[in-house]
This record gives sequence, C-alpha cells and structure tokens, in this order.
Amino acid sequence: SRRFYRVDSDLSVLLDRGQSAAQQNRWTFETAWEVANKVGGIYTVIRSKAYISTEELGEQYCLMGPYKESSARTEIEESDFDQGTPLHLAVSRMRDQGFKIHTGTWLVDGNPQLVLFDIGSAAWKMDEYKQELWRATNIGVPHLDIEANDSIILGYQVATFIEEFLKACEELMFNLPKVVAHFHEWQAGVGLIACRTKQLNIATVFTTHATLLGRYLCAGKTDFYNNLDKFSVDEEAGKRQIYHRYCLERASSHLAHIFTTVSEITGYEAEHLLKRKPDVITPNGLNVVKFSALHEFQNLHALAKEKIHEFVRGHFYGHYDFDLDKTLYFFTAGRYEFTNKGADIFIEALARLNHYLKSSHPEITVVAFLIFPAKTNNFNVESLRGSAVTKSLRDTLNEIQTKMGKRLYEICLSGRMPDESELLMKEDKVKIKRCLYSLQRNGLPPVTTHNVNDDWNDPVLCAIRRCQLFNTVHDRVKVVFHPEFLTSTNPLFGLDYEEFVRGCHLGVFPSYYEPWGYTPAECTLMGIPSVTTNLSGFGCFMQQHIADPMSYGIYVIDRRFISLEDSIKQLSQYMHDFCRLNRRQRIIQRNRTERLSDLLDWRSLGIYYRLARQKALQAVFPDIPSLEEEDRNRGFNYPRPYSEPPSPSASRHTTPMSSRHASDDEDEIDEENEVSFRSIIFAFFFYFC
Ligand code: UDP
Ligand code: G6P
Ligand code: GLC
Repeated sequence: SRRFYRVDSDLSVLLDRGQSAAQQNRWTFETAWEVANKVGGIYTVIRSKAYISTEELGEQYCLMGPYKESSARTEIEESDFDQGTPLHLAVSRMRDQGFKIHTGTWLVDGNPQLVLFDIGSAAWKMDEYKQELWRATNIGVPHLDIEANDSIILGYQVATFIEEFLKACEELMFNLPKVVAHFHEWQAGVGLIACRTKQLNIATVFTTHATLLGRYLCAGKTDFYNNLDKFSVDEEAGKRQIYHRYCLERASSHLAHIFTTVSEITGYEAEHLLKRKPDVITPNGLNVVKFSALHEFQNLHALAKEKIHEFVRGHFYGHYDFDLDKTLYFFTAGRYEFTNKGADIFIEALARLNHYLKSSHPEITVVAFLIFPAKTNNFNVESLRGSAVTKSLRDTLNEIQTKMGKRLYEICLSGRMPDESELLMKEDKVKIKRCLYSLQRNGLPPVTTHNVNDDWNDPVLCAIRRCQLFNTVHDRVKVVFHPEFLTSTNPLFGLDYEEFVRGCHLGVFPSYYEPWGYTPAECTLMGIPSVTTNLSGFGCFMQQHIADPMSYGIYVIDRRFISLEDSIKQLSQYMHDFCRLNRRQRIIQRNRTERLSDLLDWRSLGIYYRLARQKALQAVFPDIPSLEEEDRNRGFNYPRPYSEPPSPSASRHTTPMSSRHASDDEDEIDEENEVSFRSIIFAFFFYFC
C-alpha cells in the first residue's frame, strides 16, 4: 500500500526491509521445486526476485523447496533460525516428528531464508499423504510416477510446516499471523491443495509458468493457438498419461485465492486448458546491475568476444580461412525442446542465410551456436584436439618470441643492427613447421562439440544434416552444437553462460511455446540484441510496452498469424539485415538494447507479485489495505529512439542506418537522450509508488 513504499533518486524501491510486514504480522512463504535447485527458467525467477522480496519482507519472507544435496553444497549456508521465533519452533516440531529439514540462507542477492525438505526422509509418509489427497480431492497418483510422488511428499511437508508455524505463532505471540503461501507450478501445487484441504487460515497464490498440456501439445506439432478452445483437455491429458499431473495442476489453480501466469499469452492458454483465467499477470523480471561507466557493457562484449574467437580458432583449425573481424556470433540456448524452442526454424533459416550471404556478402561469416543440454558421452576428440593444437601453436610462438626478444636485445646492446637471419633460428622454423603440420586436418570441422548419444536421431543433428550445414569452406554460416549448458570450467570455451552471451552479437530464440523466455530478456540486460516471437511472453511484453521493438534490437518474429514458411522467411530476413549492419551500427544498437533493462527490472516488475499477494490476503483478511488499482492499470509505452536515423535503402526502416563512411571501429557514441529516457522509466515507476 502507498504508505509503505518510497522512491529514491536511483529509481529503486527502497522498501523497509520487512518493517511494515512485521508490524502487520504479515508473512510470505514461497514454494517452488527450483528453490536453490537449478533446472530452468523458474530457478531464475525465484533467484533473481529474492533481492526485492527480502527488501520488502525482510525476515518475514521464506523460500521453501526440496533439498538437493548437489546444489545445496554450493548454494546455501546452513544455519538455524533464532530460538524463540515461530520459524524455529515450527522447524523443531517438524524434526520431532521425524522429518529431516535443512534451514539457512540462499547465497544469492538478498540472502533469503530457506526451509528445504528432505524428500527421502518423509517417504514413509507417502501412502498416507496419497490417501489424504484421494480422500480430499479424488486425485489418484500412480505409484510409478516418481516425480509426482516426490511432489506429493514435498507438498504435504510444506503444508504441515505452515500448520506448525501457525500454531507456533499462536503460542508465541498470541495473535493470528497473516500468511500468504505462494506456490509455483504443479510440482509445488500439491502444497497449496494440502493447505486448502486442511483448511488452514492463510491466503494462497498459485503461479503457473507453463501448463503441462501446453508443453506437450506444442511439442507434438499441433496447431496449438488456433485450437486452444477446442481441445478435450481430459482426453488429451489421458492420451499422454499425465492425467493425474493435469488434475494436480488444475486443482492448484482453482483452489488458489489468486491465480497468476507469467504472461498474457499463458493466461489465455490457462483459461482454456486449466479453465481459470489468471487474476494477475506476474511478468518475470531480472536483477539489473548498473555499471558506473555507462559503456562498460560494451567493453565486456569485446573481452568476451575475444574468448569466443579463441574457441573458434581451435574449432575451425585447418579450415580457419575467414576473417574474425568480419565474423558474427549468433546463438540460441535453453531446455532441449526442439520445436518449442524454435530450433527447427532457426536451423532452416540459417540454411537460407548461408545462401544469401554466399551470393551477396561472401566476406561475412556467421558462426551459430546451439546450446541445448542433451544426453552425451563427453566431448569429442576432434574438438579437444582443435583446442590442443591451437594452444600448442600459441605456446610455441610465445616461446620463440621471448627468445627472439632476448637475442635482439643482446645484439642491439653490442651496438649493431640485427641481421634478418638472426630473427628466426633454424630450430624455431622447424618447431613452427611441426605446428603447421599438426594444424592440417582431413575432415571438416565438426558440427558438434560432444559425442551425442543416439546421434542419428538427435533432432538438432538431423536438421543440420537435412539442411547440409556441414561447415565447409564455402559455407558462410558455420554451426556449432554444444549439447551442454556452459560453465566457466568448460575446457573448450572457458566461459560461463553470461560471459558467452556478452561476447555474442545476436541471440536467436524463435520459440513456438514460451510462456516467458528468460534467454532474450537476459540478452537485453547485457545489451545484446535478440530475436524473439509473438508467441513468447517476453516478445508480447516488449511489443506491448515499446513502440518499435526492432529499433531497440528486439526482433519479434510473427509465429502466430502467418504460415511457418513465412515465419522462416522473416527470421532469415532479420538475420540477413543484421549481418549487413556495420560495427558502428551494431554498437549503437547494443546501446539502445541495453537501455531497455530498466523495463525488465524486478524493482519495477515486482509490483505485480505484491499485488497478487495483497489480493490474496484481502480475500482472507479483509482489513489488509489494497494497492492502488488504477496505478497498475495505467498503460506505458516506450517511444521510438529520439535520434532514430533515416532508413537505409533496402533495409527495414528501423535498423540502424548503414554508414559507409563511418570508421569501422567507432567509439560507442550514441547521441540519444539518456536522461529523458530514464525519466520516462521514472515516471512509469512513480505511478506505482
Ligand atoms: N541457461 C543457463 N546456462 C546455459 C543456457 C541457459 O543457465 O548454458 C539459463 C538461462 O540463463 C535462463 C534459463 O537457462 O535463465 C532458461 O530459461 P527460459 O525461461 O529461457 O526457458 P526454460 O528453460 O525455463 O523453458
Ligand atoms: C564494443 C567495444 C569496441 C569494439 C566493439 C566491437 O563496443 O567497446 O571497442 O570495437 O565492441 O563490436 P562488434 O559488434 O564488432 O563485436
Ligand atoms: C518456464 C517457461 C519459460 C519461462 C520460465 C520462467 O520454464 O518455459 O518460458 O521463462 O518458466 O517463468
């Protein structure tokens, strides 16, 4: 509510670190399978939101999830809650009942409190929980579905914990706490069902990040969005043997006081597949970190790109006949859902781009990376050999260079001019020749860095074979499939995902099914332009809030209203247009892209979570004050960039103009009015405060 928030000059919501929550005895418990457990985008939601949640709710905020030892070892710091607090008492009571519970804080920005439940320690209760679920809801869960069994155990443990917490509050404080329990996705949803069927006096929120049926139906090449109102949901779930999971998801969404989805498009999907319209849309944000020097992100791009160059030199050894200064790095990444993530159309469009570049700009090379975790049997020998031979060449040349330097120094000290024959000695030439021989290779540079299991049926490799993108010398588009997420310990790249993104030129995410899509949002924060679609939550959000997303480096492919063939054409055209930008234009575009970060900051988007919690609380505790609804409803539209240059001929009117006379390595000058832009964000933000 209005009196609890204020805005500082840095546009950040400086909330009161839980003071008002404490005054109101208001608590928030947020449960997700991905709390301190990295699986996909939901982990990013919970993790990045932790900072603003703790700023707002302080010690009255607690995250709950399953205890996963491998990630817990690096991500959490175990400690007990302070004695005499209701959290401490509730944990002790649970432990007395035989449950293993880990408590402490998550080592991420905001350092939120954690209660993690050891699923194994409560396995003996599973049958009892299942019976209770059946008695209360008539949902039966087959014994063999381990994921569903685990979610039942987690759900009932969470509900029992909240029950103990309510009792502890009563005992310690003698007044009723105002609790909001927020659950994400069907796997955590059992907790909500259990809380409601136990009739706990708490407010509940359920957020879905994707519907089960949506994911399955889209992956099956269905014309999903044109048939949303026609699916026989029970039958479709039954056919895919996920009926019980579907029931859990549907029950969670209906039993929640407030139901939310991460985007309008997923809201529309939920309305038809789960039969409940969301009460609030809770778009995903990120933790925006501002550098003190405005263009620091540009420097970081150049540094990270140099590391990618090093990989490329190794990977393409023996066929390294292209100019890295005229090479562009495109990439796509995410969970390995081939058609849902649009990898099918990306590869097809790359084949067309290859054709366009061969005929129109043969001096340009595009290296396209596909990063999808698949089952592999480690790195392949060719890739490791590539990085080894280039390293050996570099080491040899460094050694020769050092020796040569010393030699020249000695000669010059003796007062004479070195002779040419004294530069490279015979043994140096032999060493260099040996390196050159080992740089020869018979085959082509591999299209994948790993030995992919079932390589013959792997969808990415099949598509690459079909489109004949084999990395030949004639190809202007080279492909590298990296079937594993990137970490800094990766022997080929030596870059983590964030650094890799920074070093690339364009992220390409032409998804068909994408409730939100963090990958393009993360690109935006790092000032890297990206391709998204009007079927992704992120793409729709950008279209809704920015007058002309393309001029800010957000290319939105139409995958909804045109045919598949036309979407592919559009994607290849956008990529081709991008290839025609010169360095100066790319720098300007990156500046514009980065400027959108404020729009994706949790400090502005967190309002929707607050709103959802507030509405849920009001449903149970009518004396809770409400956030100003008209503030939420106020629209906001980004203008076109002020200095938008005129259209280059034969290019889209919004791409930065091609300027043949500009120096290719121009400094990152973008004369647009930063101050005015930021003040617009400020105005947007101010409405909510
Ligand atoms: N990601 C990562 N390492 C990689 C590639 C991707 O950590 O090598 C992360 C990325 O930062 C993003 C998440 O995976 O936060 C993918 O989330 P998104 O919402 O795009 O899709 P999801 O996988 O949840 O469908
Ligand atoms: C950043 C750096 C520049 C560099 C440029 C390369 O802007 O600050 O020094 O020249 O990146 O851009 P490019 O799009 O060619 O990778
Ligand atoms: C799901 C969706 C993804 C979204 C993420 C976070 O994993 O597939 O699109 O970004 O949740 O909400």
